Amino acid sequence: MKYYLTTPIYYVNSTPHLGHIYATSAADTIRRFRRMQGYEAILTTGTDEHGQNVERAAKAVGKTAQQFADVVTAEWRRQWDALGIQYDRFVRTSDPVHHETVRWLFERCRERGYIYKGSYTGQYCFNCELYVNDAQPGDPCPDCKRPTETVTEENYFFKLSAFQDQLLELYERDPDFIRPETRRNEVASFVKSGLQDLSITRTSIQWGIPVPVEGKHVFYVWFDALTAYITGVKNEDRWPADLHLIGKEIVRFHAVYWPAFLLAAGLPLPKRIFAHGWILFEQDKMSKSRGNVVRAEPIQKVVGIDGMRYFLFREIVFGQDGSFSYDALVGRYNSDLANGLGNLSSRTLTMIGKYCQGILPGTFDAGIGNLAAQVIEQTVQCYEKLEFSKALEAMWSLQAAVDKFIVENKPWELAEKGDPESRARLDRTLATAAEALRVVAVLLHPMLPDSTAKIWRQLGQVSPLEGERIDQLVWGGLATGQRIGKTEA
Ligand code: ME8
Ligand code: MG
Repeated sequence: MKYYLTTPIYYVNSTPHLGHIYATSAADTIRRFRRMQGYEAILTTGTDEHGQNVERAAKAVGKTAQQFADVVTAEWRRQWDALGIQYDRFVRTSDPVHHETVRWLFERCRERGYIYKGSYTGQYCFNCELYVNDAQPGDPCPDCKRPTETVTEENYFFKLSAFQDQLLELYERDPDFIRPETRRNEVASFVKSGLQDLSITRTSIQWGIPVPVEGKHVFYVWFDALTAYITGVKNEDRWPADLHLIGKEIVRFHAVYWPAFLLAAGLPLPKRIFAHGWILFEQDKMSKSRGNVVRAEPIQKVVGIDGMRYFLFREIVFGQDGSFSYDALVGRYNSDLANGLGNLSSRTLTMIGKYCQGILPGTFDAGIGNLAAQVIEQTVQCYEKLEFSKALEAMWSLQAAVDKFIVENKPWELAEKGDPESRARLDRTLATAAEALRVVAVLLHPMLPDSTAKIWRQLGQVSPLEGERIDQLVWGGLATGQRIGKTEA
């Protein structure tokens, strides 16, 4: 069983901010979840290095585009490693292996009759790397509001117009191809309004992949960038991707252009494209060009990587926009993690240490067991649908029930009494709480890998948590009679 997913490959005109971290952490979570279901899951991420913007940025600091891209790419990789992101492939579009893939895709499209030569004059936005249809000289880009520039080029065109019906049929046949629903509707109406052929080469730019034709053409960056998804798994029998995870602003490229390129080349289509929403900061999309970015490092220092991930997954409904604020971050951290999960775990383990000599006691409560079984099922379904916030709500409902159960049973009073019945009830209370913690640790691991691993060790589990199978998780699996680990906060 294989599973292949991707993040966008990020532009090297920025280094990671919370928006990129959100997207990549979600991909990391899905990869971990699939692995815990027994899939050989792999994740491709990377950097999108070509284009006029990079050429200009490099010049401004006296570097070649390649030198500039090398430095920035190293920083992306450093941050993913520091954040514990488990990616399997890192594709750089300046890599010669990728160049080959792009040329191969182009040749396939050309052999099958979907490429022709033409001339184009139009308004081009160099920031978005996009022609702006119907714009007049001097008009701003509708997306980024920067001025467009007039360009006339002899270009190679891709017959995008030939795919209108096939694309609409695809969206119709497979409602899951583009998720969520709102994005699918947007794309469908865009395609219904008519598709124009797409110029896929440029002569005005040097920093790009040379096209295998006469003249000084390089590939249009999106033809180049999208192909990175195939480069990541070339010659591995891994294509098509099961999931492209992207932000909502690049849906058109992924759900219209990309499937059209693949159909033209006679290649299988990705199974699903999921567009998440934007992280806003002070009402605006967080982005380097707006100058309102939030970086990981200061957040990580205060609430840790898991605190940051928890906030992003819990506070924002995946697929919708959501706001970041430091107050909300600290609020969530205190109420749900420090006073919530952290407290439940340290309380339970401290009591097992104190009342049970650190040996996990036996027998579990059936009521909590039933609830846990429901929570396991719900959480798995939520992961399947990328409903991260709902998955967390389900897991936290189990914790709340266990908290209440502990308070009702008052282990500290049962310990005082010492008669056999109280002793049995004390054991059952603490065993139930420990078992619930085990279940939560397994379910929560894809989202909060570090803190769940800590809880796991404190429960005395020796096998690595990431090797646990979520699809085989059932209530009652805690090995009793085992010694718990050292309790930490
Ligand atoms: O678009 N909120 O790269 P990019 C949430 N190279 N997610 C955000 C975000 C925010 N404020 N800001 C960025 C490109 N992202 C192309 C992609 S793919 C073949 C080529 C995330 O560096 C989000 O996933 O602008 C978005 O789609 C991606 O970063 C864009 O990164
Ligand atoms: Mg962007």
